[in-house]
Amino acid sequence: MGSLPLFPERASTFAGPVDTLYFILIGLALLFAVPVAALIIFFAIKYRRGSNADRTGAISQSTAIEVTWIVVPLFLALGVFTWGARLYVNIYQIPTEGMDVYIVAKQWMWKAQHPTGQREINELHVPVGEPVRLTLISQDVIHSFYIPAFRLKRDVLPGRYTTAWFQATKTGVYHLFCAEYCGTDHAVMDGSIVVMEPRQYQQWLSERPMGIADVIPEGMTPNVAPQSMAGAGEVLFQRLGCITCHRMGGGGIGPSLVGLLGKSVALENGQTVLADIQYIRDSVLDPHAQIVAGYRPIMPTYEGQINEEELLQLVEYIAALDEE
Ligand code: CUA
Repeated sequence: MGSLPLFPERASTFAGPVDTLYFILIGLALLFAVPVAALIIFFAIKYRRGSNADRTGAISQSTAIEVTWIVVPLFLALGVFTWGARLYVNIYQIPTEGMDVYIVAKQWMWKAQHPTGQREINELHVPVGEPVRLTLISQDVIHSFYIPAFRLKRDVLPGRYTTAWFQATKTGVYHLFCAEYCGTDHAVMDGSIVVMEPRQYQQWLSERPMGIADVIPEGMTPNVAPQSMAGAGEVLFQRLGCITCHRMGGGGIGPSLVGLLGKSVALENGQTVLADIQYIRDSVLDPHAQIVAGYRPIMPTYEGQINEEELLQLVEYIAALDEE
């Protein structure tokens, strides 16, 4: 089927199962639609007014036929539902293993950051055969991250992180499209996903000039790998003055952030929230929305002082504090 020009290549672990479900749905629809249409035409001609067809022995009621046309489609529908639900869960459940990539969409381009610091625009290099976990956010309007060959599409929203994952099964270069109308240049908001052999990918990583290194001021050596996203996050943590209140050992004006990610946090209003990356982002931009129990609402907002890519670097840094 891959040879059909209208059909995208199958290059991820989802592609096979998604296509199978698609063809089963088409097949079922044809299975019912074709005989019904054919019989309508056949009977319309046979029993047209004035024809001398035999009209005796008309059936007015048959429980057997009624039960059949209720039970058979019921099980077919339940089967399709179960199959679809399992596939959906598999696509939406982000695996615990794999590598992370952070995507920021803007009018009209895709920006990718690798945790080790490499940055790309309208391109994404990944190794074959390894799960790739994506965290996506938009810095302006709604976009949609769409790789037809992987059967993957995920809306990219302003103000909210979404996640997606894929595992490429074939090396090659695949189309990336924006699948949500987002303004004048929506049609050219595309790019390439370059799937490489793991060894080639490692080589690409090591040859790629780090895009983040230039944000680190001379003479400063971050504790985390200097050119990584977390390293850039640490520089931000100091430059924006976060460190003044959020002391590592606690005892600052604000809560310590060590081990924060993934923990539940008790709030001043009695609620408890999970400290995920969305919580961290929201706390930087709108600190007064969720005040941690025992602390005063004195943190200023950093709205306008930090962009989406930097927020992701801060998140990576805070996640790295977790491991220390
Ligand atoms: Cu971005 Cu359409």
